[in-house]
Parts: sequence; C-alpha cells; structure tokens
Amino acid sequence: MDWVVSTATLQLIFTMQIIETVYAMRDWSERERREDRRIALVPTMGFLHEGHLSLVRDAKKRADRVVVSIFINPIQFAPGEDFAAYPRDFERDCQLLEIDKTDIVFHPAVAAMYPDGAETYVEVEKLSRPLCGATRPGHFRGVATAVAKLFNVIRPHVAIFGQKDYQQLQVIRKMVRDLGMEVEILGHPIVREADGLAMSSRNAYLTPDERRAAVCLCRSLCKAERLVRRGETSAQSLLSLVRAELAKEPLAHVEYVKLCDSETLIEIETIHRTALLALAVRFGKARLIDNRVLTR
Ligand code: PAJ
Repeated sequence: MDWVVSTATLQLIFTMQIIETVYAMRDWSERERREDRRIALVPTMGFLHEGHLSLVRDAKKRADRVVVSIFINPIQFAPGEDFAAYPRDFERDCQLLEIDKTDIVFHPAVAAMYPDGAETYVEVEKLSRPLCGATRPGHFRGVATAVAKLFNVIRPHVAIFGQKDYQQLQVIRKMVRDLGMEVEILGHPIVREADGLAMSSRNAYLTPDERRAAVCLCRSLCKAERLVRRGETSAQSLLSLVRAELAKEPLAHVEYVKLCDSETLIEIETIHRTALLALAVRFGKARLIDNRVLTR
C-alpha cells in the first residue's frame, strides 16, 4: 500500500509554507501586497523536473516572493486522457522547491478550485483551435480557466510559463490581454536533457527504447533550423525534412508537424520573418510535444 505523508506532517519538515485553501492563499497575497512586495507565480501540475525548477529560479530573480502552484487540473484532460495516471510525488516536489527557496506552495484540492456546480469557463477561441487544440478539444479552455482562477486567488504581479508549451503561453498572453488582467506574462526557454529531449513530466511514461527514440523530435527541429539558416523558407521543404527524420524512428507516431505564424498560430507556406515549427508525437503511452521558433 502507498503511504502518503499528510500536508501537516510535511509542513513540519519544510520552512516554506504549504497552502491548500483559497481563503488562506488570498489572505497571504493580500498581506504581501500591502507590504509592497512583488509576487511571482509559477503554475505547475507537479512531478517537477529541471524545466519547472528553472522557471522557479527565473521567478526568484523577478520578484520578492515566489509562489509555485501544484494542481493537476482535471478539466484540461479529456475523457480517456491520462488524468488518473498523471505522475505525482508531492513530497519530492516540496523537497525540490524548498531547495530552490520557494516561499509558498499552493496545493488546492479540486473542490477548492471548482466549487460544486461551477459552470464558468474561459475560452480563448481562435488560438485554442490549431495544433494541440485540434486533437485535444477543450484542453486550452481547461488551461485558461485554471490559470485565470490561480491569477484571481494568488494575484501575482508576474507569472512565468515555459515555451515548451508554446501554444499554452500564447493562449495565456491573449487571455490576459483580452480580459485586462493585471499580471505580466513571461516566457521561459525550453529546458532540455543532455541529448536534446525537452524535459517533461510525461517523459516518465517512456520505456528505455522509446526514451532513446524520442530524441528524434529535437533532432528533426535542429535539422529544420539549419536548413532555414541556409536560406530555406518554404513550409513544404521544411515539413518534408522533419517528417522524413521522424519516419526513421519506427516507435514514433506523428500526430502533427506544422509551420505557423508565431503570433496567430495560423499555418503559413513561407517564412517571412518569424515562424513556429511545432510537433506532437506519440511514443507508446507518452504524447510528447516540442517546437522551435525559426527566424529568417
Ligand atoms: P506543467 O506541464 O506541469 O508545466 C508547468 C510549467 O512548466 C509550464 O509553463 C510549462 O511550459 C513549463 N515547462 C514544462 N517543461 C518545461 C521545459 N522542458 N522547459 C521549460 N519549461 C517547461 O503546463 C502545465 O503544467 C499546466 O497546463 C498549467 C499551466 C499548470 C495549467 O494547469
């Protein structure tokens, strides 16, 4: 049987504060704001790795207080996706955050974030449709709703998101702009393993063979980038190159490879200035994404 340490016990071990209720979180934030302290938020779903921790260190440089939220948001998973299986290790997450001197871990229960009968959602319409939105309908509505709630409760001055989830970052930026939210959104570069694989909590699903094969995502993006540096601007040529590279890996099942405008995420045929090359590939149980911003 798994033995889970209670939050009260964990709180005895750590100097950082673990907050589980919306009321206590609001209260803390109000006090910090009254003292004129700048609050940074790093929203996560836990099972932390160096990618997350790099966001936390960035946050530390930009504010007086750092809040990391750990909340596996059920409404961004479609039925049949990996919500129940999503990896979790709250105690280890807390250990890592304590080392990086996080001030607050906000760890609400699902019922605290979605009170009984909740029926209000935030939807960023156009940006949520292409790329991952095409195969994960409702995903970005779930993300935007959860992040809007976190912003309301924590009231950060700045929030940091990884560029690994490029579409998510664009959706959040647009939501903040459209709703006039008072928070600065910052993007953080993709953090990679030594062989180039983008770090992800979902890499834990990979078998050793799949893990070796998964490096083809980054390799194909690097090849495309080199071709652009040599002057290539045609989507057709770049996409063919990436698909051919991915096809060399029998364990890789491509969901999409797209070249699009880096702001609107609308597909393009030629790179004029800056473009986003984005892909999603399945390896067994794991669905991995990666991307590269290409500049002419
Ligand atoms: P999660 O997948 O836990 O990611 C939390 C944050 O870490 C996101 O901003 C993500 O882009 C960033 N991140 C993950 N891997 C990264 C890497 N290799 N390099 C740089 N940044 C990386 O994204 C979510 O959670 C959720 O959708 C959330 C925003 C918390 C809303 O529920």
